[in-house]
Amino acid sequence: MNIKVVYQDITKIGRTADAIVNAANETLLGGGGVDGAIHRAAGPLLLEECRTLNGCRPGEAKATKAYNLDNKYIIHTVGPRYYSDPNPPVTLYNCYINCLKLADELGLGSIAFPSISTGAFGYPIKDAALICYKAMHDYEPKTLKQVYLCIYPDKNNLDIFEEIFKN
Ligand code: APR
Repeated sequence: MNIKVVYQDITKIGRTADAIVNAANETLLGGGGVDGAIHRAAGPLLLEECRTLNGCRPGEAKATKAYNLDNKYIIHTVGPRYYSDPNPPVTLYNCYINCLKLADELGLGSIAFPSISTGAFGYPIKDAALICYKAMHDYEPKTLKQVYLCIYPDKNNLDIFEEIFKN
């Protein structure tokens, strides 16, 4: 898999990515941050579908249609709340792996991630980027060829991801 770090609002990556990943919470009923941005861009039908999913456990991933967004799917995942999750590194690792697995199950070629848990959920950005790096390099893809890590809007976060992924 080719992994590219990009300075990009994930709601604007368009059909470059077959799926975009949403950093949601356990209810899957929306929120702020990237969750809020994705729901605003996708429109109200996204929330209607999310209501049928019966939530999502931390580390797990569930797919919905993308509605007004240009992508084929939105893959919702719930990252660890850094200060209360029993094992934040494992939960965050599982988020990345389970989103990649689900994208392969859907036969997708490309997927875009935000930096999961590094906003409201308080995960230190460098530790999170290292977990992301490990997951991306442990994963053995089936149909997936391209991963975009959409780091936005914080340029410091971009520098950290670029530093870790440049090797
Ligand atoms: N595109 C890409 N990345 C974004 C965007 C965007 N449009 N908007 C925010 N981000 C970045 C944030 O800057 C942060 O680095 O995504 C990262 C994740 O931050 P959050 O969106 O706060 O997600 P998270 O830390 O996983 O917390 C999830 O926040 O929005 C609520 O409902 C959500 O309760 C859940 C919690």
